[in-house]
Amino acid sequence: MIEIKTAAEIESMRRASRVVAEVLAQLKARVKPGATTAELDKFAEQRVRELGAVPAFLGYRGYPATLCVSINEEIVHGIPSPKRVVREGDIVSLDMGAVCEGFYGDAAVTVAAGEISAPAKRLMDVTRVSLERALSAVKAGARLGDVSHAVEKYAVENGMSVVREFTGHGIGRRLHEEPSIPNFGRPGTGPLLKAGMTLAIEPMLCLGKADVIVKNDGWTAVSADGSLSAHYEHTVAVTEDGCDILSSCG
Ligand code: MF3
Ligand code: CO
Repeated sequence: MIEIKTAAEIESMRRASRVVAEVLAQLKARVKPGATTAELDKFAEQRVRELGAVPAFLGYRGYPATLCVSINEEIVHGIPSPKRVVREGDIVSLDMGAVCEGFYGDAAVTVAAGEISAPAKRLMDVTRVSLERALSAVKAGARLGDVSHAVEKYAVENGMSVVREFTGHGIGRRLHEEPSIPNFGRPGTGPLLKAGMTLAIEPMLCLGKADVIVKNDGWTAVSADGSLSAHYEHTVAVTEDGCDILSSCG
Protein backbone atom coordinates (compact mmCIF):
# COMPACT_ATOMS: atom_id res chain seq x y z
CA MET A 1 0.00 0.00 0.00
CA ILE A 2 1.29 3.44 -0.91
CA GLU A 3 0.40 5.82 1.87
CA ILE A 4 -1.19 9.21 1.19
CA LYS A 5 0.12 11.95 3.49
CA THR A 6 -1.94 14.81 4.91
CA ALA A 7 -0.92 18.41 4.25
CA ALA A 8 0.42 18.64 7.81
CA GLU A 9 2.51 15.49 7.37
CA ILE A 10 3.91 16.86 4.13
CA GLU A 11 4.90 20.06 5.96
CA SER A 12 6.88 17.99 8.49
CA MET A 13 8.56 16.21 5.58
CA ARG A 14 9.32 19.59 4.02
CA ARG A 15 11.05 20.68 7.24
CA ALA A 16 13.14 17.49 7.32
CA SER A 17 13.92 17.74 3.60
CA ARG A 18 14.91 21.40 3.85
CA VAL A 19 17.36 20.57 6.61
CA VAL A 20 18.88 18.01 4.25
CA ALA A 21 18.97 20.49 1.34
CA GLU A 22 20.53 23.23 3.44
CA VAL A 23 23.22 20.97 4.90
CA LEU A 24 24.02 19.50 1.46
CA ALA A 25 24.41 23.05 0.11
CA GLN A 26 26.81 23.89 2.94
CA LEU A 27 28.72 20.65 2.40
CA LYS A 28 29.22 21.45 -1.30
CA ALA A 29 31.52 24.31 -0.36
CA ARG A 30 33.54 21.92 1.83
CA VAL A 31 34.15 19.29 -0.85
CA LYS A 32 37.69 20.40 -1.69
CA PRO A 33 40.95 18.57 -2.31
CA GLY A 34 42.42 17.68 1.10
CA ALA A 35 39.11 17.35 2.95
CA THR A 36 38.47 13.97 4.57
CA THR A 37 35.10 12.30 4.25
CA ALA A 38 34.96 11.99 8.07
CA GLU A 39 35.22 15.80 8.36
CA LEU A 40 32.29 16.17 5.97
CA ASP A 41 30.29 13.70 8.04
CA LYS A 42 31.09 15.46 11.32
CA PHE A 43 30.00 18.80 9.88
CA ALA A 44 26.79 17.22 8.53
CA GLU A 45 25.81 15.67 11.85
CA GLN A 46 26.50 18.88 13.76
CA ARG A 47 24.47 21.03 11.34
CA VAL A 48 21.53 18.59 11.20
CA ARG A 49 21.29 18.67 15.00
CA GLU A 50 21.73 22.47 15.17
CA LEU A 51 18.81 22.77 12.76
CA GLY A 52 16.65 20.75 15.16
CA ALA A 53 16.57 17.50 13.19
CA VAL A 54 17.93 13.99 13.71
CA PRO A 55 20.25 12.20 11.24
CA ALA A 56 18.22 9.51 9.47
CA PHE A 57 20.98 7.19 8.29
CA LEU A 58 22.97 6.97 11.55
CA GLY A 59 22.17 3.55 13.00
CA TYR A 60 19.84 2.61 10.11
CA ARG A 61 20.46 -1.13 9.67
CA GLY A 62 23.75 -0.51 11.45
CA TYR A 63 24.97 2.24 9.10
CA PRO A 64 27.63 4.11 11.13
CA ALA A 65 27.35 7.75 9.90
CA THR A 66 25.09 10.70 9.10
CA LEU A 67 26.29 11.05 5.54
CA CYS A 68 27.05 8.69 2.68
CA VAL A 69 30.08 9.93 0.71
CA SER A 70 30.66 8.00 -2.52
CA ILE A 71 33.68 9.04 -4.59
CA ASN A 72 34.28 8.32 -8.32
CA GLU A 73 33.54 4.60 -8.96
CA GLU A 74 31.67 4.40 -5.65
CA ILE A 75 27.97 4.50 -6.50
CA VAL A 76 26.26 4.80 -3.11
CA HIS A 77 26.68 4.12 0.62
CA GLY A 78 30.35 5.15 0.93
CA ILE A 79 31.16 5.21 4.66
CA PRO A 80 32.99 8.37 5.82
CA SER A 81 36.52 7.79 7.11
CA PRO A 82 39.33 10.00 8.45
CA LYS A 83 41.60 8.10 6.04
CA ARG A 84 39.63 8.95 2.91
CA VAL A 85 40.88 12.20 1.43
CA VAL A 86 39.13 14.06 -1.39
CA ARG A 87 41.48 14.65 -4.35
CA GLU A 88 41.49 17.17 -7.18
CA GLY A 89 39.33 15.81 -10.03
CA ASP A 90 37.12 13.58 -7.85
CA ILE A 91 33.36 13.50 -8.21
CA VAL A 92 31.84 13.19 -4.76
CA SER A 93 28.26 12.04 -4.16
CA LEU A 94 26.76 13.23 -0.88
CA ASP A 95 23.59 11.48 0.31
CA MET A 96 21.81 12.37 3.54
CA GLY A 97 18.53 11.92 5.37
CA ALA A 98 16.99 13.75 8.34
CA VAL A 99 13.97 13.32 10.58
CA CYS A 100 11.73 16.15 11.88
CA GLU A 101 8.57 15.58 13.93
CA GLY A 102 8.73 11.89 13.07
CA PHE A 103 8.94 12.42 9.29
CA TYR A 104 11.84 11.77 6.93
CA GLY A 105 13.52 13.75 4.18
CA ASP A 106 16.22 12.30 1.89
CA ALA A 107 18.34 13.92 -0.85
CA ALA A 108 21.63 13.55 -2.69
CA VAL A 109 23.91 15.58 -4.94
CA THR A 110 27.18 14.93 -6.75
CA VAL A 111 29.86 17.59 -6.40
CA ALA A 112 33.10 18.21 -8.32
CA ALA A 113 36.32 18.58 -6.32
CA GLY A 114 38.37 21.20 -8.17
CA GLU A 115 38.75 20.70 -11.93
CA ILE A 116 37.18 17.48 -13.22
CA SER A 117 37.41 15.70 -16.59
CA ALA A 118 34.90 16.42 -19.38
CA PRO A 119 33.36 12.90 -19.19
CA ALA A 120 32.93 13.27 -15.42
CA LYS A 121 31.17 16.59 -15.95
CA ARG A 122 28.91 15.04 -18.58
CA LEU A 123 28.01 12.16 -16.27
CA MET A 124 27.07 14.62 -13.53
CA ASP A 125 24.98 16.72 -15.93
CA VAL A 126 23.17 13.74 -17.44
CA THR A 127 22.41 12.29 -13.99
CA ARG A 128 21.11 15.64 -12.70
CA VAL A 129 18.92 16.16 -15.76
CA SER A 130 17.66 12.55 -15.59
CA LEU A 131 16.30 13.39 -12.12
CA GLU A 132 14.67 16.55 -13.55
CA ARG A 133 13.07 14.43 -16.30
CA ALA A 134 11.76 12.02 -13.65
CA LEU A 135 10.29 14.90 -11.63
CA SER A 136 8.61 16.23 -14.78
CA ALA A 137 6.87 12.87 -15.20
CA VAL A 138 5.39 12.95 -11.67
CA LYS A 139 1.72 13.97 -11.28
CA ALA A 140 -1.54 12.49 -10.08
CA GLY A 141 -2.80 10.08 -12.73
CA ALA A 142 0.65 9.17 -14.05
CA ARG A 143 2.07 5.69 -13.46
CA LEU A 144 5.28 4.95 -11.62
CA GLY A 145 6.66 3.34 -14.80
CA ASP A 146 6.42 6.76 -16.50
CA VAL A 147 8.81 8.16 -13.88
CA SER A 148 11.21 5.22 -14.07
CA HIS A 149 11.18 5.30 -17.86
CA ALA A 150 11.96 9.04 -17.94
CA VAL A 151 15.26 8.42 -16.14
CA GLU A 152 16.22 5.42 -18.25
CA LYS A 153 15.35 7.08 -21.55
CA TYR A 154 17.37 10.22 -20.87
CA ALA A 155 20.34 8.25 -19.50
CA VAL A 156 20.48 5.81 -22.39
CA GLU A 157 19.98 8.53 -25.02
CA ASN A 158 23.02 10.22 -23.53
CA GLY A 159 25.18 7.09 -23.46
CA MET A 160 25.10 6.46 -19.71
CA SER A 161 24.07 3.24 -17.95
CA VAL A 162 21.49 2.90 -15.19
CA VAL A 163 22.23 1.14 -11.91
CA ARG A 164 19.56 -1.51 -11.38
CA GLU A 165 20.43 -2.89 -7.93
CA PHE A 166 19.38 0.26 -6.06
CA THR A 167 16.15 2.18 -6.40
CA GLY A 168 14.29 5.20 -5.11
CA HIS A 169 11.49 4.64 -2.65
CA GLY A 170 8.40 5.93 -0.95
CA ILE A 171 9.27 7.94 2.15
CA GLY A 172 7.40 9.44 5.11
CA ARG A 173 7.12 8.08 8.62
CA ARG A 174 9.90 5.70 7.56
CA LEU A 175 12.97 6.22 5.36
CA HIS A 176 11.91 3.45 3.01
CA GLU A 177 8.24 2.93 2.25
CA GLU A 178 6.39 1.53 -0.73
CA PRO A 179 6.78 1.80 -3.64
CA SER A 180 10.26 0.88 -4.76
CA ILE A 181 11.17 3.25 -7.64
CA PRO A 182 13.52 1.68 -10.21
CA ASN A 183 15.40 3.98 -12.56
CA PHE A 184 14.23 1.94 -15.55
CA GLY A 185 10.79 0.78 -16.63
CA ARG A 186 7.95 0.87 -19.10
CA PRO A 187 5.61 3.84 -19.50
CA GLY A 188 2.01 3.19 -18.52
CA THR A 189 2.92 0.40 -16.10
CA GLY A 190 3.15 0.20 -12.32
CA PRO A 191 1.19 1.86 -9.52
CA LEU A 192 -1.01 4.87 -10.25
CA LEU A 193 0.32 8.05 -8.63
CA LYS A 194 -2.06 10.02 -6.40
CA ALA A 195 -1.81 13.45 -4.82
CA GLY A 196 -0.25 13.18 -1.36
CA MET A 197 2.08 10.28 -2.14
CA THR A 198 5.65 11.14 -1.12
CA LEU A 199 8.59 9.75 -3.06
CA ALA A 200 12.39 9.81 -2.92
CA ILE A 201 13.54 9.62 -6.54
CA GLU A 202 17.25 8.89 -6.96
CA PRO A 203 18.91 8.07 -10.28
CA MET A 204 22.36 6.49 -10.06
CA LEU A 205 24.17 6.42 -13.41
CA CYS A 206 27.54 5.10 -14.55
CA LEU A 207 29.83 6.16 -17.36
CA GLY A 208 30.69 2.52 -18.14
CA LYS A 209 28.72 -0.59 -17.26
CA ALA A 210 26.30 -0.44 -14.36
CA ASP A 211 27.13 -3.78 -12.71
CA VAL A 212 27.58 -3.35 -8.98
CA ILE A 213 29.92 -4.86 -6.39
CA VAL A 214 29.46 -4.26 -2.66
CA LYS A 215 32.77 -3.98 -0.83
CA ASN A 216 33.84 -5.96 2.25
CA ASP A 217 32.63 -3.21 4.58
CA GLY A 218 29.13 -4.44 3.70
CA TRP A 219 28.01 -1.01 2.45
CA THR A 220 30.13 0.69 -0.21
CA ALA A 221 28.66 -0.10 -3.63
CA VAL A 222 31.09 0.39 -6.54
CA SER A 223 30.82 -0.10 -10.29
CA ALA A 224 32.30 -3.51 -11.15
CA ASP A 225 34.26 -2.02 -14.06
CA GLY A 226 35.58 0.89 -11.99
CA SER A 227 33.75 3.47 -14.10
CA LEU A 228 32.62 6.78 -12.63
CA SER A 229 29.18 7.03 -11.07
CA ALA A 230 26.92 9.93 -10.08
CA HIS A 231 23.80 10.18 -7.88
CA TYR A 232 21.13 12.84 -7.37
CA GLU A 233 18.02 12.56 -5.21
CA HIS A 234 15.00 14.63 -4.22
CA THR A 235 12.11 13.99 -1.85
CA VAL A 236 8.85 15.10 -3.50
CA ALA A 237 5.10 15.07 -2.89
CA VAL A 238 2.79 14.16 -5.78
CA THR A 239 0.27 16.94 -6.61
CA GLU A 240 -2.69 17.08 -8.98
CA ASP A 241 -0.64 18.75 -11.70
CA GLY A 242 2.95 17.80 -10.95
CA CYS A 243 5.12 17.54 -7.87
CA ASP A 244 6.19 19.62 -4.93
CA ILE A 245 9.97 19.28 -4.43
CA LEU A 246 10.30 19.13 -0.64
CA SER A 247 14.10 18.99 -0.64
CA SER A 248 14.66 22.11 -2.75
CA CYS A 249 16.83 24.77 -1.14
CA GLY A 250 15.14 27.92 0.22
N1 MF3 B 1 19.39 7.59 -0.11
C1 MF3 B 1 19.71 6.22 0.22
C2 MF3 B 1 18.44 5.47 0.35
O1 MF3 B 1 17.46 6.03 0.52
C3 MF3 B 1 20.60 6.14 1.39
C4 MF3 B 1 20.37 5.13 2.45
S1 MF3 B 1 21.82 5.00 3.34
C5 MF3 B 1 21.55 4.18 4.75
O2 MF3 B 1 18.33 4.32 0.22
F1 MF3 B 1 22.58 4.25 5.43
F2 MF3 B 1 20.56 4.72 5.39
F3 MF3 B 1 21.20 2.95 4.46
CO1 CO C 1 16.91 7.55 -0.72
